[in-house]
Amino acid sequence: MDSPIDEALARLRAEFPARFEQATTEQALRDENAKILGKKGELTAILKDMGKAPPEARKAIGEKVNLVKQEVEKTFHACLAKLAKAKRDAELNARPFDLTLPGREVAPLGHKHPISIVREEVVEIFRGMGFAVHDGPDVDFEENNFTKLGFPPDHPATDMQDSFWTTSGHLLRTHTSNIQVRAMTTQAPPMAFIAPGSVFRRDDDATHSPMFHQLEAFLIDENVSLAHLKGVLAEFAERMYGPGTPVRLRPSYFPFVEPGAEVDVACVFCKKADGTRAGCNMCKHTGWIEILGCGMIHPVVFEACGIDPEKWTGFALGMGLERIAILRYGIPNIKLMFESDPRFLAQF
Ligand code: PHE
Repeated sequence: MDSPIDEALARLRAEFPARFEQATTEQALRDENAKILGKKGELTAILKDMGKAPPEARKAIGEKVNLVKQEVEKTFHACLAKLAKAKRDAELNARPFDLTLPGREVAPLGHKHPISIVREEVVEIFRGMGFAVHDGPDVDFEENNFTKLGFPPDHPATDMQDSFWTTSGHLLRTHTSNIQVRAMTTQAPPMAFIAPGSVFRRDDDATHSPMFHQLEAFLIDENVSLAHLKGVLAEFAERMYGPGTPVRLRPSYFPFVEPGAEVDVACVFCKKADGTRAGCNMCKHTGWIEILGCGMIHPVVFEACGIDPEKWTGFALGMGLERIAILRYGIPNIKLMFESDPRFLAQF
């Protein structure tokens, strides 16, 4: 007669394949498997009962239990593979992919700001002429922004009405000319550099913004003359606005240069700088458009910065980048530059 263990084993062996077959999900199959082989599983229980059998029978029982265990494991893995295949088949047979559907629209890309485009261009032009590129702080000492540049203490630009002062007595730089002072007081000549940056003035209308961008060019060497400045200006205008673009200098005043001048280029819109025709609105019917201020460095500035004016001479020029961009692209209102409207920016 079969021992109770033999009977239990035979029952389990007869039953388990059908139990596995009935499991329709992977989880159900794993649960069923655990009920047989798990710590509290049926086969494990049978194995524990082996202790009650007579010692000489244990080896044979152990072998039988192992055989059933191997069978269970094999069937379990076969059923697992079958379920996985069925799942994959169902996925592949489900709603077919429609390769003719149009793709999803890619989110619109950002654009370079016209100020950045223009700044990069101007920087490249001056680098091509051998100028280094300097950087400097937006908040500076009055000394660097005004005093050492020869502004008298009562100059209107130093007024609260015209400049932004901090409670600590510093100010937001009103021009990039502060970099001239910073260079001259820390570096020995000769030197040639440009300095692009943000500048701040209490100004706010269609053609003025309280924050705008300038680019300063600065050169000191022995025997530098106005002719060198004109040469650099002509080269700049030609590279920026095309070969043969006429340039003219008009005398003007800045405390830190002598002589000082404002520079006009022939109106890029109407090209009527020949004085024969009326011109356009952009040049206010003069045929010329002002692009920058410049001049020969004032000996007073050299002295204030500890440089010998008998030995060294130099020139400086400063341009507004908004102005250059407005001229380049015919932008009607400076405010458009600061509104970050993608419809505006996408046009460049
Ligand atoms: N700093 C002057 C301004 O902001 C421009 C300038 C620079 C003029 C260098 C002369 C020389 O108006």
